[in-house]
Amino acid sequence: MQLYSSLVLLVLIQFRSLSCDEDELGTGQVQEDNRSAMHFNSVTTSAIIGNDAFFEITDPPSLGYTYRIRPAKDFGRGFNELKLQQVRLIPTVPENGCSFFKNSKKMKGHVALVDRGDCTFQKKALYAQMAGAKVILVTENNVSSPEFDYYIEMVHDNSSSDPNIPAAFLLGKNGLIIKETLKKLKRSYAVINLPQNLTFVPAYTINHPPWLSL
Ligand SMILES: *[C@@H]1O[C@H](CO)[C@@H](O)[C@H](O)[C@H]1NC(C)=O
Ligand SMILES: *[C@@H]1O[C@H](CO)[C@@H](O)[C@H](O)[C@H]1NC(C)=O
Ligand SMILES: *[C@@H]1O[C@H](CO)[C@@H](O)[C@H](O)[C@H]1NC(C)=O
Ligand SMILES: *[C@@H]1O[C@H](CO)[C@@H](O)[C@H](O)[C@H]1NC(C)=O
Repeated sequence: MQLYSSLVLLVLIQFRSLSCDEDELGTGQVQEDNRSAMHFNSVTTSAIIGNDAFFEITDPPSLGYTYRIRPAKDFGRGFNELKLQQVRLIPTVPENGCSFFKNSKKMKGHVALVDRGDCTFQKKALYAQMAGAKVILVTENNVSSPEFDYYIEMVHDNSSSDPNIPAAFLLGKNGLIIKETLKKLKRSYAVINLPQNLTFVPAYTINHPPWLSL
């Protein structure tokens, strides 16, 4: 089992590979030693780091960072055509999202946040879709799980029913802090933009949550 710092390193390595991606995309001119000046000209947000996407929380301010998410590998729609501005990120009731959402009335047009476990990713996505959610984000809430610090590849469960909303995995630590902060503030949702447009944001200035480097 790797340490958390390995994950941070991995992220850094992936940032490094960015400059190569950009070269391959023909924008050239990016110097390895001058990456702070690098801009993602003509590179879309979802192309920035592998196939990962990003969203930002705009409210509450204490959660106001950029969060990386990993789209499901082989089910659900892609994130490319998505453009959700100032929508709500809502933890579901029940948290595992394995049955009809008790707060489904508030979910329509917004983004569902569910915990991993107890049923397949696809099943959760189907319940989210049924509730009218535009997107489902799955996170790991078990801090003792060996996968708490990792991005989990969400794969098809081989069932015949296919959800068609986009689904992605949110790092356990981010999911936990988002949910705990909302609980503390007695709020049922955060306000987000998904995907965040990072087209002109240099890699080094992406506003990652500070707790990820602790
Ligand atoms: C980095 O890039 C900026 C903008 O292109 C340029 O002004 C600056 O001189 C460069 N710095 C170094 C150390 O190359
Ligand atoms: C959390 O993960 C640990 C380690 O895998 C496991 O033993 C425990 O049962 C899990 N707890 C829950 C509530 O799933
Ligand atoms: C789905 O089917 C494939 C091919 O038979 C298999 O490799 C995979 O493990 C299955 N996935 C699940 C979640 O059962
Ligand atoms: C991202 O922002 C830039 C600059 O404001 C804009 O030109 C571009 O069209 C935006 N991209 C998307 C996908 O919204």
